[in-house]
Amino acid sequence: LLIFTILCLIAYLIGSIPFGVLIGKWFKHTDIRNYGSHSIGTTNAYRVLGTKLGSLVLMLDMLKGTLSASLPIIFGHYPHYYVIICGFFAVLGHTFSIFLKFRGGKAVATGAGILLAYEPILFILTWIVFLTTVFFTSAVSMGSILGFIFVNLVSFFVLKDPILSPIAFILLIIVIYRHRENIKRIKKGQENLVPFGLIYWR
Ligand code: G3P
Repeated sequence: LLIFTILCLIAYLIGSIPFGVLIGKWFKHTDIRNYGSHSIGTTNAYRVLGTKLGSLVLMLDMLKGTLSASLPIIFGHYPHYYVIICGFFAVLGHTFSIFLKFRGGKAVATGAGILLAYEPILFILTWIVFLTTVFFTSAVSMGSILGFIFVNLVSFFVLKDPILSPIAFILLIIVIYRHRENIKRIKKGQENLVPFGLIYWR
């Protein structure tokens, strides 16, 4: 248990690495927290830094989750559910980063990364839900929230997974809390849209 606690701590530290901020500073001498939605996450990185650097942030933020969640697999023969617990700590790191005075991202890319490590098929299905939503609404926030709701529904009612279900529920609460400004904007019809999907034909 001691080793597992240490792995969770390492996962939290890995999750805390704020790639959105670092990539912006390294490549463009820009702090993405000062622009767009002020988020450190992938969507704002695309918005402020462009497609290439945005994609880099997406990959690194997801990798934080996948790698952290894989620590129990790399370091020993732990039961599979340790993967989602370790991953959960990485998402906590991403969202409440020790390097950013416990501020951080909106849990989406890193959350997707841990799902990839824990349940790859659910990961793919969730991506489809996410992309379809963003295709129709051009609001990444909407896709993110619906994606997390989808994971909860599948976990509770289909997989009946006793470990993923409570963790997915806590993550959904964090996601909704972190998207509270987005939700206000969506209600007012003022959400920052992305150039993807039906928006081209509107
Ligand atoms: O990646 C988080 C996404 O759901 C919303 O991001 O920057 O539009 O608030 P943003």
